[in-house]
Amino acid sequence: MGSDAETRGTLIAEIKDLRARLAETEKALLAAQKSRNNHVSKHAEDEIRWGKERNHERVKASELLQFEKVEHRHSEEELGKTREQLRDVSFQLLLAEETERKRIAQEIHDGIGQHWATVKLRVERILDRLGKEIATPLKEILPIIQVGMEETRRIQMNLRPALLDDLGILATISWFCREFRKAHPAIRVETKIDLQEDDIFNPVKTVIYRLLQEALNNISKHSKTTLVNLTLQKKEGVIELIIQDSGQGFELDAVLTLKSYQKGLGLSGMKERTHLSGGSFWIESTKGIGTAIRASWPLLENR
Ligand SMILES: Nc1ncnc2c1ncn2[C@@H]1O[C@H](COP(=O)(O)OP(=O)(O)OP(=O)(O)O)[C@@H](O)[C@H]1O
Ligand SMILES: [Mg+2]
Repeated sequence: MGSDAETRGTLIAEIKDLRARLAETEKALLAAQKSRNNHVSKHAEDEIRWGKERNHERVKASELLQFEKVEHRHSEEELGKTREQLRDVSFQLLLAEETERKRIAQEIHDGIGQHWATVKLRVERILDRLGKEIATPLKEILPIIQVGMEETRRIQMNLRPALLDDLGILATISWFCREFRKAHPAIRVETKIDLQEDDIFNPVKTVIYRLLQEALNNISKHSKTTLVNLTLQKKEGVIELIIQDSGQGFELDAVLTLKSYQKGLGLSGMKERTHLSGGSFWIESTKGIGTAIRASWPLLENR
């Protein structure tokens, strides 16, 4: 019995102890819950406050963004206008030069050109009237007059070929290549023209002609090549001109770093004209392989 009572007593004590610990645990749990609830509601309050603040900031940021967008659009419009003005002024500059060249070419044609023609006609008439003995040695003068006439015509055409205005750039390229072949029979010029006359913006036509003139001039003077490839094509929204030779090439860096008074005007002139007409210009040269000049212009419609 005694032992039963002891056992019961021990069990009751344990139960008490357990109850007390349970109560303590419940108290701790309640406290934790309360604190968590407090924390959660504080967090929620903070969230709401931060949310309001963030919302305010968001509104301010979006207003700022809107303002910046408007400013950006204005700047872009301004930039566009300035670019257009720059292009117009550049074209006017090119046009002024071409007009002046045309005027000089016309004066040479009307003045010296006509003069040569008159001299030739008069000499021929006089020779016809002279006796054979005097006329024969005097006839040697005729080829000299002929050379004078051709040289005058060459200068005139170099200044501004009338063909460019009369028949357009494609006909002028064919004519120029023919003349080049005549003057340099050892150099073969292969042409690939893959566009129509109307595809090329008028002010660009003169620039193409000037580039062709200088590039072929350089090829005949410096390249020692026997083959030139000339390409003029419409490709991926641009007009592209490539003039490539398989000659001796040169050190581009060495030429570009020359002092301005030592430098030729050809390469820089080609680059400047291309840029003035709104195009891009590249030159590549490898010793022993050859030289290529490439210019391209965005497609612009003739107004
Ligand atoms: N196709 C080419 N092949 C080899 N060298 C070239 C070629 N084109 C240009 N060069 C080299 O580049 C240099 C510069 O050419 P650029 O046309 O500027 O001047 P230039 O022809 O010497 O003189 P200018 O054109 O003023 O009469 C030339 O002197 C030559 O050494
Ligand atoms: Mg040159």
